[in-house]
Amino acid sequence: MSQTTQHAKQILHLHTSHPPERKEFLTLLYLMAPTPSQGFVPLFVDFESFYTRNLYRRLRDVFNRPISSVPGGYVDVVERVSSDYNWHFQTTGEVHRVMNLGSYNYLGFANNTGVCAEEAVDHLHKYGVASASPAMELGTNDAFFECERLVAEFVGKESAIVIGMGFATNSTTIPSLMDKGCLILSDALNHASLVLGARMSGAKIQVFKHNNMENLEFLLKRAVVDGQPRTHRPWKKILILCEGIYSMEGAIVNLREIVRLKKKYKAYVYLDEAHSIGAMGRTGRGVCEYWGVSPDDIDIMMGTFTKSFGAAGGYVAGDKVLMDELRLKIHSTMYATSVSPPIVGQIVSSLKLIDGQIGGTQGVDKIKQIQDNTRYFRQKVWSNQEHQHTLSFKHTLSCSSSCQASPERFVE
Ligand SMILES: Cc1ncc(COP(=O)(O)O)c(C=O)c1O
Repeated sequence: MSQTTQHAKQILHLHTSHPPERKEFLTLLYLMAPTPSQGFVPLFVDFESFYTRNLYRRLRDVFNRPISSVPGGYVDVVERVSSDYNWHFQTTGEVHRVMNLGSYNYLGFANNTGVCAEEAVDHLHKYGVASASPAMELGTNDAFFECERLVAEFVGKESAIVIGMGFATNSTTIPSLMDKGCLILSDALNHASLVLGARMSGAKIQVFKHNNMENLEFLLKRAVVDGQPRTHRPWKKILILCEGIYSMEGAIVNLREIVRLKKKYKAYVYLDEAHSIGAMGRTGRGVCEYWGVSPDDIDIMMGTFTKSFGAAGGYVAGDKVLMDELRLKIHSTMYATSVSPPIVGQIVSSLKLIDGQIGGTQGVDKIKQIQDNTRYFRQKVWSNQEHQHTLSFKHTLSCSSSCQASPERFVE
């Protein structure tokens, strides 16, 4: 199909899939857009424009819904209506209280009442809202140092660095650890912050299949045997990047095997525990506790305070010598404002609750509760899926005689 025909077809499509008031504008925009042959990046990328036009816009009312309450077990969702097919929304003034299955608030510490909220307010009164400086300049205080000490103690490492944003913790720490001549082996489903950090480091990146230890061993073996491209010099460092619980899939890392491989091939491990710290293991110490792996076997323990701690920010923890050096190198500690004091109050109090230093068994009870809830949820999803499969299989059997299609096709 020539580009002109393709162009014409797409304009025709715009006319059939949009409300009248958008059509003229979109057509104009489309006609103005240079075709790829003119050497510009296309204004409309096929899939994105297909998704936005045909799916997202039609379902938009279920996304980005304004919330007018704390993100607890239940949330108040603000009611909106649209009179132009979800292009614009107007609020009606009504709110609906609904069960919250979407927030990170795993242990319920992101609340506006209770110990954590009180501690955050105390910190606000004592230290103010902002630290007003990077950690390596004036952005620290006694509470901040206590926070770093508690985090290191909790994850079982000598020292920890606390950073104002979880995403930046990964994206600015990895480039401080790795550079040209180093190799990063990264799980295929790693979070964007790990991917960005790896790319910014300048190290060579190889992606292994998600949680697939045979593939990881294959890459490790090849890296050790072949060394760097062309020169075949040994890699300066090999770092395995993985997560504790993968955020989108909920898969748990095969940590014992990763530790075995890292020892065998003399590599290092960087473990992102954003979703597992505080929530996994009997006392919430994450995947190391869950698998019975010693934290000594993990070189860099990373985590965020946005999930189980109901706060903001992230940490990296490891040997003191390494942390002392990293502190001087990570861009987030040098060039970005450190964590805000009320957030430090939230982190310290939730950490103490999880650890049982305050609040009696409240922390452990919450950890047990989230584990029970997770099992219950998974069980129901699975049994529901099996039920659906049985239904679709029955449907298949009843169809297959008439339409002669293979049963697998329908079960899919
Ligand atoms: C695995 C992982 N690492 C890092 C981050 C970034 O953390 P934050 O949202 O605290 O910036 C996330 C965010 O969800 C994550 O899932």
